[in-house]
Amino acid sequence: MYYTTDENKHGLKHDPFKALAIPRPIGWISTTSKEGKHNLAPYSFFNAISDRPPMVMFCSAGHKDSLRNIEETGEFTCSLSTWDLRNEMNVSSATVPYGVDEFALAGLEPAASGQVRPPRVARSPAAFECKHWKTIELPAPTGKGTPYIMVLGTVVAIYIDDAYVRDGMVDTPAMKPLARLGYMDYSVLTREAVFEMQRPIAQPDGSLKTPSGPWDGVYR
Ligand SMILES: Cc1cc2nc3c(=O)[nH]c(=O)nc-3n(C[C@H](O)[C@H](O)[C@H](O)COP(=O)(O)O)c2cc1C
Repeated sequence: MYYTTDENKHGLKHDPFKALAIPRPIGWISTTSKEGKHNLAPYSFFNAISDRPPMVMFCSAGHKDSLRNIEETGEFTCSLSTWDLRNEMNVSSATVPYGVDEFALAGLEPAASGQVRPPRVARSPAAFECKHWKTIELPAPTGKGTPYIMVLGTVVAIYIDDAYVRDGMVDTPAMKPLARLGYMDYSVLTREAVFEMQRPIAQPDGSLKTPSGPWDGVYR
């Protein structure tokens, strides 16, 4: 199968694009309105885009409440969505009127952030506190609905539940993070799914040598 996306004639039951850009992390975005109301929603058009400084982005299909609050207040947090919190994450995606607090709707406790006003999800094992950097409106497809709007933020502080720190490293699989696939499918990261592969180093003679032994902490 091959098709161009302007016509999008894939002939399948549903558009396969999102089933192929996988697995996507889910940024569980919390914001606080000017009036002080908290808002929480999952976004899977979400990712880290830099680590110097640490930065993240998410994309909103049109002007949703998270985007509105960020534009008005300049702050957000991203909590890690996990297997244990899958139902709460799903509830927080419901389209509800502006001003409804999805923490309360999903039965979640907010925990105060250190550097920004929006709280994190208390039961989530990790969270980023972010300051808004820029908003970019993506190209509007003719006749295909509202354009996406990309929000870029700088991570100014990071929360990690100490229970998940072992031997000086974060035990990410122990957190059981969720990933978004296509359609209504999800995946969960487990220990069995993780493998280590060190990057090859080019030698003066042109050959490649892959380091053996423990990783030296250098991203090559
Ligand atoms: C796992 C998951 C991922 C989602 N990803 C996105 C996304 O990337 N962009 C988007 O606009 N909506 C996404 N949604 C839908 C929003 O969560 C939903 O529209 C929500 O009501 C937006 O809340 P807000 O208006 O409070 O920001 C996603 C929903 C789920 C369940």
